[in-house]
Amino acid sequence: MAQHSLHPMDDFPVRPLRFPLAADQPVDVVWSRTKPAFAVFLNALAMHVPHFERYLVVSLRKAREQITDPKLKRDVTAIIGQEANHSHNLTAFNQHLRARYPDVVAIDDASIAWFTQHAAEDGMKARIGFTAGYETFTFLAGMIILQNHDRWFADADPLMKAVWVWHQVEEIEHGAVAFEVWQHLYGEHEWYRKWMVLKAALHIARETIRIYPRMARREGWLRSPWQALKTLAFGGEMLGRLFIAALPVFGRRYHPRNHPIATTAQNPIQIAWRRFEADGGDVLAIDHAKLATMLRIAAPEAAVTG
Ligand SMILES: [Fe+2]
Ligand SMILES: [Fe+2]
Repeated sequence: MAQHSLHPMDDFPVRPLRFPLAADQPVDVVWSRTKPAFAVFLNALAMHVPHFERYLVVSLRKAREQITDPKLKRDVTAIIGQEANHSHNLTAFNQHLRARYPDVVAIDDASIAWFTQHAAEDGMKARIGFTAGYETFTFLAGMIILQNHDRWFADADPLMKAVWVWHQVEEIEHGAVAFEVWQHLYGEHEWYRKWMVLKAALHIARETIRIYPRMARREGWLRSPWQALKTLAFGGEMLGRLFIAALPVFGRRYHPRNHPIATTAQNPIQIAWRRFEADGGDVLAIDHAKLATMLRIAAPEAAVTG
């Protein structure tokens, strides 16, 4: 049986997983049956994420040349590997989103152009500041999503559940790296770091607010005023949760390892997923039975067949 680090951020690996997300594959876009609005919200929030991930890869490759600490250098190489894999898989998923929601194609194209331009033109301090600010939210989203598994996607398409559990586990694993690169290179510029957290928050909110209502309208959830209110309020609540969770990030002594919600004891799914994957388990699809196996519990009878 493989050995596992106690803290998820120690010695995290690169896993070259390829999910069957090509355009000709059947993919259930509204993949949560427990809470369909959650699936659409996460799709909306994450549509620009693969474009950011490419920006991160370019930025950290350049920064790596300036890093003298060998452990940090290793972690930077590992986050680059993880994010390149995320970007590959999420870009494939985006093709399904673009096909189902023609209304958001122009927004997605503008987002691709924005990140491509900034990857080419931003200075090193802006790149690393924005990357670290942005990674605050992917890390926190990972924690929040896994902690609310039962409320939001207990019953979900096995392929997409596998994609999101994998992505969120890895976001937690490498959740400290961009922050540590920032501290290593520019640690004394504390106000700039905080400004970049705010800038990243505004960027994520703007992208989500532009996309989520368009996707919800295509799903028919804005037809009646009550359902529209419920659907949009859910989106607002989710963004609110994310930004409230980010408040400790503005503290002077903040470090992702010590964030109040980032302890291995509080996150059984990520611990189980890492153990299962490291032992050679197939994580490309996760249904009720597979999750029960990972967690080493008996699957509920009805759920196994459901
Ligand atoms: Fe990622
Ligand atoms: Fe990340």
